[in-house]
Amino acid sequence: MSKSALSQVGELQQGNPLQEVSNLPINGLKSAIRRLDLNNFRNYRSLRFELDDKPVVLTGNNGAGKTNIMEALSFLAPGRGLRHAALGDIAFIGNQTAADSWAVAVQLDSRNGLLKLGTGVEYLKSRDQRVRRVISVDGVVTKGHSQLTKHLSMVWLTPEMDRLFMEGSSGRRRFIDRIVFGFDSEHASRLASYEQALRARQRLLKENSSDNVWLSVLEDTIASNGVALSAARKDVVTRLNAALSFRREKTGVQFPSASLEVFGEIDTLLRTNPALAVEDRLRALMSSSRQSDRASGRTEHGPHRSDLLVVNTDKNMPAEKCSTGEQKALLIAIVLAYAHLLTIDRQATPIILLDEVAAHLDEKRRSALAENIKNLGIQAWLTGTDESLFESFGGSAQYFKVADATVSLSGGGQNNIYLKGTGSDDGYTRIR
Ligand SMILES: Nc1ncnc2c1ncn2[C@@H]1O[C@H](COP(=O)(O)OP(=O)(O)O)[C@@H](O)[C@H]1O
Ligand SMILES: [Mg+2]
Repeated sequence: MSKSALSQVGELQQGNPLQEVSNLPINGLKSAIRRLDLNNFRNYRSLRFELDDKPVVLTGNNGAGKTNIMEALSFLAPGRGLRHAALGDIAFIGNQTAADSWAVAVQLDSRNGLLKLGTGVEYLKSRDQRVRRVISVDGVVTKGHSQLTKHLSMVWLTPEMDRLFMEGSSGRRRFIDRIVFGFDSEHASRLASYEQALRARQRLLKENSSDNVWLSVLEDTIASNGVALSAARKDVVTRLNAALSFRREKTGVQFPSASLEVFGEIDTLLRTNPALAVEDRLRALMSSSRQSDRASGRTEHGPHRSDLLVVNTDKNMPAEKCSTGEQKALLIAIVLAYAHLLTIDRQATPIILLDEVAAHLDEKRRSALAENIKNLGIQAWLTGTDESLFESFGGSAQYFKVADATVSLSGGGQNNIYLKGTGSDDGYTRIR
């Protein structure tokens, strides 16, 4: 992970205002989706639409298919998308039968030119109809998500996350981990190895296995990956805090100012001990808690128990005690700080998906949101039921109406986009 972002934010703070970011040659740094193809994805049998690089506003009635478009894009990031869906539940359900495979493909205008990214599932008929996830980059099929994260970083806010600060810690860990994915391409695979080893250890314990060698191997994996996860979260949170206070000071952002901290046993140890020592400690904790973990059925120690604490520093108020709108604004502020850092770090803007956020914000904050998105030069995707919620974007966004599983250019934009109807012939079959 590069250490440059924090120091650059530091430098910016010393008098070289955010203009350094806002005046970055955005044309060169902007990553934007220029074409989206959906095939058998939720309520879309087949959809293609083309876009320019401005922020995208999708409006339409409830159930029109706005969130489905956001979800489709979210599959271009590690994981199972913004609804944590089962891969088998996504395919289009028509009048008669459900389709078996589905696919999403985009043409991404990136620093490296136009790039085709795609993902989807196919059924392995030979193997008991098992679904298999397929990822392709410029026509080359790959296995890991890391090929996608190399080219595109993405983060989202959804209505379900309105309760992020009120509910259990797993959602908050997921939120911060998704942000870390953007900075550290290994984070997703480390998280997967860590969780896999946790499950395997718990299974062995449950079976009353006396295979101590195997248990030690698993605990070793848990300790090394666990400390790396915790360290990566800590690093990113430090940088986010720097960017948050910087943006607050220099841009007059009309969002509450947030401060973040990852809190937990391993995180506390890492604050005052070298990583290797914490690794040893976690390994020892794992070994000594075998009996109690067997009895409780859960793993007591490790960064899967950590939590993300967020404080509204304007009011010195923990996020969970803030109003719904304030909580939304805190999340938006964090996401904007992420976009700011990532643009410096990767020399490319992320894509940000903001599903139904505008309705929660008062007018001042809505216009601050538009202002921030403009000055960061990101292609944010925003949804809402009513186009008037996005007035402050004016001509700086492109506006689409979503209805009956189709998308059409709304009168509000001033761009030369054209749309293709359904049934395009070269979309998803090319994923292989
Ligand atoms: N697998 C599927 N096949 C067909 N339709 C689906 C599938 N999954 C969800 N839908 C439908 O997609 C519609 C649009 O959902 P959504 O995108 O969430 O709407 P909104 O525009 O309100 O965000 C819903 O009516 C839902 O029933
Ligand atoms: Mg929706």
